[in-house]
Amino acid sequence: MSPTDVRAELLRQHAELRDMIATVQRVAERASKGTASREELLADVTRLADALGRHNRFEEEWLRTIEPKVDGPTRADMDVLLEAHAREHEELHAAVVGIPQNPVKFSGVDVAVLLKDVLQHMDDEEASQYAAEMGRAP
Ligand SMILES: [Fe+2]
Ligand SMILES: [Fe+2]
Repeated sequence: MSPTDVRAELLRQHAELRDMIATVQRVAERASKGTASREELLADVTRLADALGRHNRFEEEWLRTIEPKVDGPTRADMDVLLEAHAREHEELHAAVVGIPQNPVKFSGVDVAVLLKDVLQHMDDEEASQYAAEMGRAP
């Protein structure tokens, strides 16, 4: 896959994730008002966590292939990104574990906050130096 193809694929995955997040946001919003069930919220968050996990693995695999070629700002961007992935994974896992145990209203609020971070991460990624790296000719 050329860097341009990888970039197109990553952007396609981001678009898919943003759609999925919009759905989960609506459920989280209803949950925070007590009008969505715990089961519904759990199913949606689990599905998102799986999709995000697959995306992050794809992204990390690609990063490893360009890693030896980059330094400076791109290298720093990559470190930030990998840290964010680890945090996302932990937070989503904690949400999946917590939803069955906590009042659904609290979980709805927690999930809404978490989703904002995930959206911010994708925005940052697209604006970062590493994204510019992806657009370069092979
Ligand atoms: Fe990422
Ligand atoms: Fe991403």
